[in-house]
Amino acid sequence: MDKFTISPIPELIFGAGTIKNLTKIIINRSFKDIAVITGGNSFVNSVFWQDLSDSFIADGINFYHYKSTGETTPETVDGIVQKLKIRNIDAVVAIGGGTALDTGKAVSAMLCMDGSIVDYLEGVGCKVPTGKRKPLICIPTTSGTGSEATKNAVITKIGKNGYKKSLRHNGYIPDTVIIDPELIKSCPLSLTIATGMDAVTQLLESYVSTKASPFTDQLALYGLKLAGRSLPRLVENPGDIDARAEMAYASYLSGITLANAGLGVVHGAASVLGSLRFIPHGVVCGTLLGSATEIIIEKLSNSNNSVNIESLKKFSEAGAALTGNKTMNTEDSCSNLIKILNTWVDNYGISRLSEYDFTENDLIDSSKKIGLKNTPCTLDFEEILRIISVRL
Ligand SMILES: [Fe+2]
Repeated sequence: MDKFTISPIPELIFGAGTIKNLTKIIINRSFKDIAVITGGNSFVNSVFWQDLSDSFIADGINFYHYKSTGETTPETVDGIVQKLKIRNIDAVVAIGGGTALDTGKAVSAMLCMDGSIVDYLEGVGCKVPTGKRKPLICIPTTSGTGSEATKNAVITKIGKNGYKKSLRHNGYIPDTVIIDPELIKSCPLSLTIATGMDAVTQLLESYVSTKASPFTDQLALYGLKLAGRSLPRLVENPGDIDARAEMAYASYLSGITLANAGLGVVHGAASVLGSLRFIPHGVVCGTLLGSATEIIIEKLSNSNNSVNIESLKKFSEAGAALTGNKTMNTEDSCSNLIKILNTWVDNYGISRLSEYDFTENDLIDSSKKIGLKNTPCTLDFEEILRIISVRL
């Protein structure tokens, strides 16, 4: 076996009704003053938030509530941190989708560092994050980004000189994650599909990654198996609580695998395209996953060296896990994988890039900037342009 390392994994409290444990956890850890970061309105308008805030008040927990919507921007993080620094915050609780979790993660870190978060972003600032942060509890209300299990917070600035860059350190992996499928049950279908496709992308890209390990391989394959059977069930019946639980666990696993094995060209594209115009991360990943998988498999098939053969075998295993069909040979299973991904993109109505005002020129310019990350083969400019142009 080759050398590999495993980053810390957050404590996980999983299952329907587990949100009720949050107040007890806060009391047991002697937290008196907490910051609560949520998304927009869907959770805040729910009975869960009403119950939670009532129990905070009843148990004498002081909480300072901030919302983070759209993307996690430097202004949002710096603004919340500025307000919280005058208080003696014991811990941060982030409840919501990827934006709320990334904001909570970034706030918990920036409460222990000076200056703006921009100073500490990879490829943007010149300061190195210390890894110190306030205790952090993450509670996802969507199943997709896996942010609850990762070591980075993605910070976005949209526009001509925009970026999507990470505040990253092993120390930023949350302490505790509560996954309660009841909280995710009312997630709208379009968001369920987009975030689900993000999780599938993360699992597949980390499974075939050049940095994959025996540890991430097992988790990624199991995550693909869960996502492959639960996402179609959720499209049929969004209230299926078992499918919600499986998809939520698949998403958590995708966070662990991406944190340890990295990602591929679809996330490279999502980073560049998502900094140019507002497009939900799950939509850009979902819409490109089929075309990227097809072109990578085509490229790997063109040369019969042992590394490529091994990578094709992994795509075939991923196809078997996702579709549940384990009887096919490598070539047929790879084709089946491409087919199911493209079928999902078509049947689930995942938006094309033009629906977010991307133009041909945008894609040409973007293709020059898209990084391959840990994609298991090289791709030239023309191949990257083909991947993203198919879904213009
Ligand atoms: Fe992602």
